[in-house]
Amino acid sequence: MSETVAAGGPPEQEAFLQLRDVAKNLGGNPVLAGVSLDVFEGDLLGLLGPSGSGKTTLLNIIGGFTDLDAGSVRIAGQDLTALPPHRRDIGITFQKYALFPHLTVFDNIGFGLRQRKVAAPELRQRVGEMLAVLGLTGLAGRYPRSLSGGEQQRVALARALAVRPRLMLLDEPLANLDAALRQRVRFEIREILRSTGVTSIFVTHDQDEAFALCDRVAVLRGGRIQQIGTPAELIYQPANAFVARFIGSPNVFEASVQHYDAQTQSIRFVRDRFTGAACVRAPLTPGTRVEVFVRPDEVVIARADDVQPAKFRVKDWVHLVSGREAWIEGPITLRARLPSEATHLERGAAVIPSWRPERAHAFAIEPAPPAAATT
Ligand SMILES: Nc1ncnc2c1ncn2[C@@H]1O[C@H](COP(=O)(O)OP(=O)(O)OP(=O)(O)O)[C@@H](O)[C@H]1O
Ligand SMILES: [Mg+2]
Repeated sequence: MSETVAAGGPPEQEAFLQLRDVAKNLGGNPVLAGVSLDVFEGDLLGLLGPSGSGKTTLLNIIGGFTDLDAGSVRIAGQDLTALPPHRRDIGITFQKYALFPHLTVFDNIGFGLRQRKVAAPELRQRVGEMLAVLGLTGLAGRYPRSLSGGEQQRVALARALAVRPRLMLLDEPLANLDAALRQRVRFEIREILRSTGVTSIFVTHDQDEAFALCDRVAVLRGGRIQQIGTPAELIYQPANAFVARFIGSPNVFEASVQHYDAQTQSIRFVRDRFTGAACVRAPLTPGTRVEVFVRPDEVVIARADDVQPAKFRVKDWVHLVSGREAWIEGPITLRARLPSEATHLERGAAVIPSWRPERAHAFAIEPAPPAAATT
């Protein structure tokens, strides 16, 4: 029996799925460029990226539905390049769920088992298990066209899981569910994947979903992996400006480096008359133009001292489920998350924003590196 390895597994551990320098051109454009990825046994890896970044193409290459132009895909040490899809032992749910319209729910779920010549009693038992696990028991005799989008997605998931694959690839499996169902099914999927212990890649462009479900998340942009890490690493140690901008809808503004502190790996920056601090990944010389990223929930607002002229004022605020968000205006405009009970900051109030330096991230503004695709 195989042993489940914790997320991110020890580096000396051989990864279950290994992608090395995978490249793919489609229609004359590089859609994937040098993608290398390790997924450890039992790991649930999120693949997060904007539309067109190459997520589906990457899954299709792993599943064997698309050839790669360069690089390699290995599972448990075996090179998959020459293996057709049906011999790879991979379960896949497609972005468009692609159920067989002429087959009932039961037969859709049993399809792969029948292909593998599983005997009828065992087939009935395994389809029954899948129906129960995914809450589809009452629907066994129905046809796909009579199911809601969410039900169809669950059937697709059941069909992929029924054959007990060694790797599951899920391409936006919750995209057609409403917000409430999405939240519930999210945790059901997590439980199912964990209890079966199957190694999985879960594609989404919803970061909340990726963070709620996955141990580690890979961020893809323009066919290149920008960063792979735990949710906390992506939030608190973004590797570059793209990841910093992409995760957590931060405040973003330009500023100029005043001073670099090697000990704390942070800078003081100035923007008009406003100075602040942010951490950096590399030394920066004074005068360097930077982009600063700080999420609204990291911004602390204090009432301005009456003595000094206020640089910022509360312009407006809005109610969110998680509290209130204030817009404060000064040399820059900032959004700041306030607890619901913080009622002292009326519109027009003079305020001073601040944050812990390690919670803001600055990156030098450079010409964009050549992206592999247009995103
Ligand atoms: N057969 C094809 N011919 C030409 N270009 C293609 C082909 N298939 C995909 N592409 C392009 O490759 C890029 C990546 O597509 P892909 O479907 O992998 O993106 P994605 O990250 O899954 O996006 P989404 O979030 O919208 O599903 C896109 O720019 C797409 O237009
Ligand atoms: Mg896609």
